[in-house]
Amino acid sequence: MSQQSLPVVVIGAGLAGLTVALELANRHPVIVLAKRQLDEGATAWAQGGIVGVLGSDDSVDSHVRDTQDAGAGLVDEHTARFIAEHSASAVQWLVDQNVPFSHDPSGPLGLHLTREGGHAVRRIAHAADATGRAIHEALLAKARAHPNIALRERWMAIDLITSRHLKRVETARCYGVYAFDIDRRRVEALPAPAVVLATGGVGKVYRYTSNPDTSTGDGIAMAWRAGCRVGNMEFIQFHPTCLYHPQERSFLITEAMRGEGAHLKLPDSAGGGRFMSAHDPRAELAPRDIVARAIDFEMKKHGVDHVWLDATHLGESFLKDHFPTIHARCMGLGIDIARQPIPVVPAAHYTCGGVVSDLHGQADVVGLYAVGETTYTGLHGANRLASNSLLECVVLGRTCAAHILAAQPTELPPVPAWDESQVEDADEQVVIAHNWDELRLLMWNYVGIVRTTKRLERALHRIELLKSEIDDYYANFRVTRDLLELRNLVECAELIVRSALVRHESRGLHFSRDFPATLPVSLPTVLTRPAQSRS
Ligand code: FAD
Ligand code: SIN
Repeated sequence: MSQQSLPVVVIGAGLAGLTVALELANRHPVIVLAKRQLDEGATAWAQGGIVGVLGSDDSVDSHVRDTQDAGAGLVDEHTARFIAEHSASAVQWLVDQNVPFSHDPSGPLGLHLTREGGHAVRRIAHAADATGRAIHEALLAKARAHPNIALRERWMAIDLITSRHLKRVETARCYGVYAFDIDRRRVEALPAPAVVLATGGVGKVYRYTSNPDTSTGDGIAMAWRAGCRVGNMEFIQFHPTCLYHPQERSFLITEAMRGEGAHLKLPDSAGGGRFMSAHDPRAELAPRDIVARAIDFEMKKHGVDHVWLDATHLGESFLKDHFPTIHARCMGLGIDIARQPIPVVPAAHYTCGGVVSDLHGQADVVGLYAVGETTYTGLHGANRLASNSLLECVVLGRTCAAHILAAQPTELPPVPAWDESQVEDADEQVVIAHNWDELRLLMWNYVGIVRTTKRLERALHRIELLKSEIDDYYANFRVTRDLLELRNLVECAELIVRSALVRHESRGLHFSRDFPATLPVSLPTVLTRPAQSRS
């Protein structure tokens, strides 16, 4: 079979995956896999917006500087500059896909720009406080209508098909993917000239997270098993303000609310009043690692289980107009944000590290690409600047598609079918659910916002035990989505802890009580899997 005839397989239907698919589809057939419903994923949950260097008071240099400041010395300047330079065309591309951004007739491109922590100027294009949903609906509508795009909902990629499966001794190459058709309970081999990992982050590895159920690090784990390098996994971003409510602990209260002037305050029992200026001169507009750590510090110091985000002074009509989703969601839980402060806590939010990939999304294995939150490109360094993530998905999604289209066609060998001869059905759901809970609680308590070497070592020990138990299930029982996700989560947990253990300093999102100083010079953490254990 030639490269021309087989579809490219894109794993993931978020902004990264859909951008690649739409850019490929006019010239090449594409299959897009989504392991849950097509509208599930972090993209649809994004609130604040997407960076566009558009204003007359803005510049590429200014955006690069802010990205570097947030990234605490580990941002790759070349990557940051490339992405900043392409931000205006990325926003224009989204406008061309019919994304209904909030308008301001006097704004650049007619768009209203808002501001978030760490940004020197207003440069965030948004659709009120539901930017992700607006983007995702527009792109999904385009993808559904495209005759060259096959959307496969509830199809979960399990592992990449590589040279090892074909028993070929050559430069590592990807030949396709094994994918689990969840409704039909069968695994298919999908051969492909190129495979794109666009599976999002790994927030679900933590007990408390702003992330949707899809964020289980599947792409990172698959790439790692296939022999790709993984970078900067210790840098997990905790968003400072997730709603704290008995019925809701993952709903995000966008940073744009602080950007528009909302204040963080202590509960009355802890003395009340604002506290951020005691931690950073930028107060509520400091980068989010600083804000999250400050909240964590104040909560522990005063023994309180949340702080307040007070937006009451912004006025009811402003809040309803700019933050309609948050207003409605909080009202539904009995919190009138125009009259009451919002109870908030930090929660795991964004995976700054991931599959090492270049500005075309190329990973270490030939024919394998990675785009979006699943990657490590050097843009985010030790801490991501708000609203740079959606931007990275669009800019590098487009360059990735261009690179795939430009590749030389080659003959593909037949790929082996999935081997289920050894497996049996088993009612192990209780044990799998237990392992899920144990892992997530362990990561929250031992590998959270503030770390110590002892806690990391203990976490690693427990993770190794869990891993061998999960590997045993995987080898002997028929796959289920829960088991496959758990297998990926525990792989990523190990990568996070191992990366954290090799960083003997505190920097950006990684804060260790044993190494509180920031070293004068530091490098990204890049892990390589030993060749004999690759799949
Ligand atoms: P996702 O959108 O998460 O999509 C992943 C896709 O992969 C899904 O379709 C999923 O089903 C699929 N998938 C995963 N594993 C498999 C598998 N094994 N097989 C098949 N399919 C699979 N960033 C910003 O820049 N601005 C913001 O305002 C912003 N707000 C945010 C608010 C919230 C609440 C959250 C959680 C994140 C926010 N972010 C924001 C971050 C941003 O939304 C994400 O980083 C970005 O959307 C990731 O896009 P993605 O395409 O890489 O992954
Ligand atoms: C937010 O709206 O606060 C999230 C922005 C982001 O994660 O980039």
